[in-house]
Amino acid sequence: MSFGLGHGRQLDPAMGVVGLSEAEMPALPDAIATDPKAGWLEPREWFADPSLPFEIEIGCGKGTFLVQQAMLQPDVNFLGIEWAREFAWYAADRVRRRRERGLLNNVRVLNTDATSFVRWRVPSGIVRVVHLYFSDPWPKTRHHKKRVVQDRFLGEVWRVLAPGGELRVVTDHDDLWAWDQEHFARWTCAQGWDLLRGYGVEPSDAGPDGSGPFVQGDFDRPESAGADELVGTNFERKFRRAGKGFHAGVLRKVGGWARCTNRAARVTLRRERAARWGAEPRSACSRTRLCLVGAARVTSRKERALPRNAKTRSACSRTRL
Ligand SMILES: C[S@@+](CC[C@H](N)C(=O)[O-])C[C@H]1O[C@@H](n2cnc3c(N)ncnc32)[C@H](O)[C@@H]1O
Repeated sequence: MSFGLGHGRQLDPAMGVVGLSEAEMPALPDAIATDPKAGWLEPREWFADPSLPFEIEIGCGKGTFLVQQAMLQPDVNFLGIEWAREFAWYAADRVRRRRERGLLNNVRVLNTDATSFVRWRVPSGIVRVVHLYFSDPWPKTRHHKKRVVQDRFLGEVWRVLAPGGELRVVTDHDDLWAWDQEHFARWTCAQGWDLLRGYGVEPSDAGPDGSGPFVQGDFDRPESAGADELVGTNFERKFRRAGKGFHAGVLRKVGGWARCTNRAARVTLRRERAARWGAEPRSACSRTRLCLVGAARVTSRKERALPRNAKTRSACSRTRL
């Protein structure tokens, strides 16, 4: 396979060995309408030693963090998930070349939408860390629904994490960080348990009184980060050269494993089908309300901070690697 990213060199993602595509996964069965577990896979079995701790990087881009961190932790299995095929295969090709030298047997790269994958394919309680670095900021209000961090996503991350497992987040983007904080606040107080149950995830043990499904903590730099780096991804390096500042945080799972109930899956499936056919879902969900709150916040920030004729940054220039 050859993409522009290979600079004329053929990229070889070593399909079935390093690279994984949706085509290799069984189709989602209709049964997920009544049984959210019906589409679960066992992604740990994609690795040479499935018994190792399992970590996921969402939006691994060219795979810089994945490669560097996995080299230092051969006793951890890393699944990089990237929905842009050319980047996924670029990352997989990097891994393949190291495999040829007997390294990185602990890395796979999956080309798919990570949020759907986590939601429908990953069994509860099996992931030690979800890494989310420099996620696309989708700055326009009408695109906020495309941001990876959503209440539903946090519910699914809680479900798939092992007890004490972590979601680690780094971004350069002030508005995205404010959005993340707004969401994290709901999930670090008792309201988070209600949200979880609303999504059909029933905790076996809700943690100490007054706590939420997560506690927020400080971000510890991974071993692979350079001396002056937070995490050491491609985007961090690019933004650092441009003199940008960064935000980083960790959500740690409180409480026990999760049981999925049917109701939420049925409702969502109905909504997704309605959306596919262009119909409006019957009621505005809480997410819609949150987006409006987000819009008001962004607008007031723009009014306060930006001169009248200043342009706001566009998503496009940021999403290109
Ligand atoms: C701004 S780039 C950052 C890449 C890398 N993490 C870094 O810091 O260099 C965000 C990446 O996330 C990917 N991405 C965004 N949403 C995704 C999703 N739902 N599933 C998989 N990949 C996603 C994009 O294609 C893009 O490569």
